This record gives sequence, C-alpha cells and structure tokens, in this order.
Amino acid sequence: KFTPRVFSGIQPSGGLTLGNYLGAIKRFVSMQDEDYETVYCMVDMHAITAKFLDPKTLAHNTRELAAGFIASGVSPEKSILINQSQVPEHAQLAWIFNCVARMGWMGRMTQWKDKAGKNAEAASLGLFAYPALMAADILIYHATHVPVGDDQKQHLELTRDIAAKFNHDYGVDFFPITEPVIEGAATRVMSLRDGSKKMSKSDPSDASRINMTDDADAIAKKIRKAKTDPDALPSEVEGLEGRPDARNLVNIYAALNEQSIEEVLRDVGGQQFGTFKPALAELAVAKLAPISTEMARLMAEPDEIDRILKRGSEQAREITAPILKKTYEIVGM
Ligand code: ADP
Ligand code: NA
Repeated sequence: KFTPRVFSGIQPSGGLTLGNYLGAIKRFVSMQDEDYETVYCMVDMHAITAKFLDPKTLAHNTRELAAGFIASGVSPEKSILINQSQVPEHAQLAWIFNCVARMGWMGRMTQWKDKAGKNAEAASLGLFAYPALMAADILIYHATHVPVGDDQKQHLELTRDIAAKFNHDYGVDFFPITEPVIEGAATRVMSLRDGSKKMSKSDPSDASRINMTDDADAIAKKIRKAKTDPDALPSEVEGLEGRPDARNLVNIYAALNEQSIEEVLRDVGGQQFGTFKPALAELAVAKLAPISTEMARLMAEPDEIDRILKRGSEQAREITAPILKKTYEIVGM
C-alpha cells in the first residue's frame, strides 16, 4: 500500500567523517538506482540540539554536507535533496509525535543518555525530543526504508513504536512501519585511536578521525598512525575476536573495496600491519581523495548548492504537505 520510499538524514553538526560515508552515504547512493524514491536530508534542526552552534558555522556545515552528499554520488536528478528547516512539515508533524511518544520511551534512548551525560538537567529539551523529530522526518514522507549506521537502530525502533501507537490510538493504518537498512561491512566505524569508540563528527576532540574533506596526505597519515596490535592478520573472522582495532581496519578496507570481511581476510590473512596499512591507505586515498576534491569544487559555488536545496524543498513539499494535511484531519485539527 505504501510506495517504496527511502528517507535518511545527516546532521550538519560538523564535517562529514569516513563513518558517515561508509555507514550511510554509500548506501544512499546505491539505493538511488534501486526501486525506491529517495529523499536525503541535512537535518539542521537536529544539529542545534546538542550544543550552541554559531549561525555562520551551521550555514557553512549545511552547505558542506550537501556538497559531501553530491560529491559522493547522491544525484539531485535521482534523489530529492533537502535541508530539513526548509520543509516546515517536519517540525509540524514532530509536535504531533511529541504528544504520541512517551517520556519513558525517550528516557531509555542510549544516545540521549550518552549525549546528555551526567548533567541531564542542563541538556536541551530538543535533545530529549530528538527521536520524535527524527520519526517525523521519516514518516512525513511515509518512508518505508531508512539506510543508517548501526548507532541509529534504537531510534528507528522508536520510529516504529510512534507509528504503531499513532495508528492504534486513532484507529487508522496511516503511517508505515519503517524498515531500517543497516548493511555492509562498516555499519559502525570506530575511532582510529580507540577501537571501542565510534568515529563521530560530533566529537571534535578525536584528531584521528578521517574527514571527507581530508586530502590524500592527511588520509594516508591518519591510517599510518591508526592504533593496531602486534599480531598478524588472521585469515578467518574468528581471529578478529578481542581485536577491535584490527577488526575496524579490516571492516573499513572491506567497505571501501566493496568486499565482504571474509573475502578480505582470505587475501590479507598472515600479513603484518606494516604491509596491510599501506595497502589500506592506498585504497582509502583512491576512493576518498576524489570526493574531497569534488567537495572543494562545489563549495566554490555556494549559490548552486543553495539552488539545488531550494528545488529539493519544493519537490519535498509536494509529498509532505498532503501527508500533514491528512494527519491533521485524522487528529481532528
Ligand atoms: P555523527 O555521529 O557523525 O554526528 P549523525 O548522527 O549525523 O552522525 O549520523 C549520520 C549517519 O551516519 C547515520 O546514519 C549514522 O548511523 C551514520 N554514522 C555516524 N557515525 C557512524 C560510524 N562511526 N559508523 C557508521 N555509521 C555512522
Ligand atoms: Na542521523
């Protein structure tokens, strides 16, 4: 009954990382050519939930993120590309969902607990309500599939809970129960200096993180410096157990080279990191440096980016305005 439609978003909270690229954007690109309508979003309203962002930085990050999407292969011809705040139905539906979601559900979100830290009293109300806005981002399109990294699994379960509760409370079958698409060898890229921590653009203190704006030298250097262990690479996946840093580099290699982890280990099993790291650096530079070059070219034409996003928001509102109208009717507004 629902059109197969993909929605996903990334926060312009900082520069894009290799984690965003491998965990999300690569899949955004491949889904464009499958049987889905695809909508991809810079979620600027999410980017102001955690800490104060000065307006120039937010505007810059949003353009740069759009440039990153396009340079990575998201095509404004094949996909609707938008900035969240330009499509007001996201926020309008979010209010309804704030009244559907329960405080207890939100309080159980691990990302809320991590980001609010010990001082939840000082966190913004927006940070607490973030997952309800995310549910609205997805469901205002009646999206059926959401490609994301592994860290978004719990938020997508909440999105399903909100859709189900709305449908149940109002006795309708109006919002789809969305499927997460969490696939590939690198659904959770870890920090290159600590394999137990996620690589995140929202953690500026991690200098080891690979940014999508890094040039060839910076990429190669960060991979050379990545933390490893003294053992050779195994030829079977079990041999990566208890070796988070080794596993992370193998995952990155597999995802960049579009291979399975098993295939990679069949080739590199027995190698020392002294051999594997230069191969990984060469692969990463070959795949990523052209993207950063293209991002820089696009960033030199900010008006062109703004024009693409404006057109995207017009296309988006053809979908979102009728869905909001129908939602209001269901609610009695
Ligand atoms: P960040 O944590 O870098 O600020 P966002 O919250 O904006 O990222 O998430 C954007 C997308 O990138 C989401 O689909 C998320 O799951 C994915 N993602 C973020 N970090 C990683 C990572 N380290 N590995 C894989 N996917 C990631
Ligand atoms: Na997100």
